[in-house]
Amino acid sequence: MFVLGINGSPRHQGNSSFLTSLFMAEMQKKGHETEVLSAVRLKINPCIGCGHCETEGVCVFDDDFTRIFLPAVIRADMVVLSSPVYFYAFPAALKALIDRIQVLWSRKYRLKTDEFKGRDRKGVLLAVGATQGKDLFDGMKLTARYFFDAAAIRYAADLCYRGMDEKGAMEKHPTVREDIKGLIARL
Ligand SMILES: Cc1cc2nc3c(=O)[nH]c(=O)nc-3n(C[C@H](O)[C@H](O)[C@H](O)COP(=O)(O)O)c2cc1C
Repeated sequence: MFVLGINGSPRHQGNSSFLTSLFMAEMQKKGHETEVLSAVRLKINPCIGCGHCETEGVCVFDDDFTRIFLPAVIRADMVVLSSPVYFYAFPAALKALIDRIQVLWSRKYRLKTDEFKGRDRKGVLLAVGATQGKDLFDGMKLTARYFFDAAAIRYAADLCYRGMDEKGAMEKHPTVREDIKGLIARL
């Protein structure tokens, strides 16, 4: 199985990056192939809503989205979004990648290509935020759900941690290692 991790944090070796590393290490132990892409390192144009993909099934831009991100998402058997919450949403670099997935939405819903037929692709959301609000992850969960749906990925599970702010906070969390192992066992 090919497991693709997408890290949404601009912070080097921050909390969501720690979650990605834990998750990928467990998957590697199980013999799976893994790759992690950092949203902020990819140089992409934001979606301009031109509608080209709705008729042609491809994007007008030739950039890191078309060359790196899209092929990896298409090949993945599991996609893991790992991200901090920024203003109750995904950080801008990751949101820009998600918006460009409109090309897969167009193929699925406008052009009816059914390109993922017969594949059981799973999606996982790992999220962190500083505060404690009940609704803290609602926006991210909705966006993740719609992103996964456009890419014919089943929203399999999520793990969201409140009260995590400073760098290194996640590493000190008392149950995170067991949480990740448990989540993977249930997938
Ligand atoms: C621009 C920005 C916006 C943020 N917005 C929120 C927010 O809306 N709610 C919240 O609880 N934390 C918010 N945070 C805090 C981060 O989610 C938190 O520090 C997180 O642990 C960072 O994870 P990372 O180390 O993976 O980057 C924000 C942080 C930044 C820099």
